[in-house]
Amino acid sequence: MAAISSSAEYNRMKEVKEFDETKMGVKGLSDSGITTIPKFFVQTPETRSTLKQNCLKDQGIPLIDLSQINSLDHRPKIVDELRNAAKRWGFFQVINHGVPLSVLDKTIESIKSFHEQPQEVKAKHYVRSEQSGVTYASNIDLFRSKAASWHDYVHVWMSPEPADVDQIPAACRSEIVAWDKEATRVAETVAELLSEGLGVGATKLKEAGLLVTKTIAGVYYPYCPQPDMTLGLNHHTDAGVLTVLLENQLVGLQVKHEGEWVDVKPVPGSLIINIGDALQIMSNGEYISVEHRVLANSIKEPRISVVEFFGMDKRAESRRYGPLPELVSPERPAMYRNFTLKEFLENLFSKGLDSKSLVEKLMV
Ligand code: OGA
Ligand code: NI
Repeated sequence: MAAISSSAEYNRMKEVKEFDETKMGVKGLSDSGITTIPKFFVQTPETRSTLKQNCLKDQGIPLIDLSQINSLDHRPKIVDELRNAAKRWGFFQVINHGVPLSVLDKTIESIKSFHEQPQEVKAKHYVRSEQSGVTYASNIDLFRSKAASWHDYVHVWMSPEPADVDQIPAACRSEIVAWDKEATRVAETVAELLSEGLGVGATKLKEAGLLVTKTIAGVYYPYCPQPDMTLGLNHHTDAGVLTVLLENQLVGLQVKHEGEWVDVKPVPGSLIINIGDALQIMSNGEYISVEHRVLANSIKEPRISVVEFFGMDKRAESRRYGPLPELVSPERPAMYRNFTLKEFLENLFSKGLDSKSLVEKLMV
């Protein structure tokens, strides 16, 4: 038996490697007109049985209006809404965040046009190294996950050691640079409100250097001929502090809430924000980092998302992070042990999206 399963495993890796070497991405597979997806994309029967939209729930993730944050009358209420959302859902949508609609549209369009270039143009960027610069590849976790999923992505380091601007593909270069400015402003605003929600003052999270490392992923979910067999993106939690996500109004993103997968309903002009593992730990469990995933796209129009991840300064490898001292008391002891950035990065880059998160590992 052991021999059979190890040879099956060997063949799977070989197929995965061959696919990676074609540099065609799942967009290439989709465009080729295949009607059956390669076996290494097929999820377990257990996961497959959950692959549907959860239309029954009208109530999606909380929707929060940021238009009045500078009004002394309204700000406390908005802080409350955000705190509750971060505590109960770990995910929320924000509207009136100040980014013009035209910028949202242009950003999405540029990622779309990058992925829709001829394969030979894109292939020049195809590389599988995530720790600096610019990466374009299929499947963020291709060699680490148990089953592959139906997306391609372009990933750019923005801070603290930004990719050379010339390295960013021309199709989305100026848009990515512009998007970083907008998304950073929104992330900083939300971080202030969340920081107030923890009762530690508005500037605590930023001052602790929690928004220093920034990367942007432009993800492309092409039509999948067998959306009941695979996912668009494997279930995972985000490892960092905060994530700001812009999508092109197509369904697919699902969030785990009270044991169920809940659809995130597209709201025009909104941005989706979620709490990552590091903030769950630093908030001593007050805010939660929840599992989410994307269903494989069943329609011909591609789903596109632009995701910016904010996290601790990656240069300070030996610095220790853990629950903020203000949030630890005899009544509420630390739920997690401290960790170094080195430990954080090793955990992030050594596993597939679908394996154990840092939160589980550090639980005391
Ligand atoms: C991610 C993620 C969701 C999406 O990249 O971490 O959750 O909609 N993306 O692309
Ligand atoms: Ni995510």
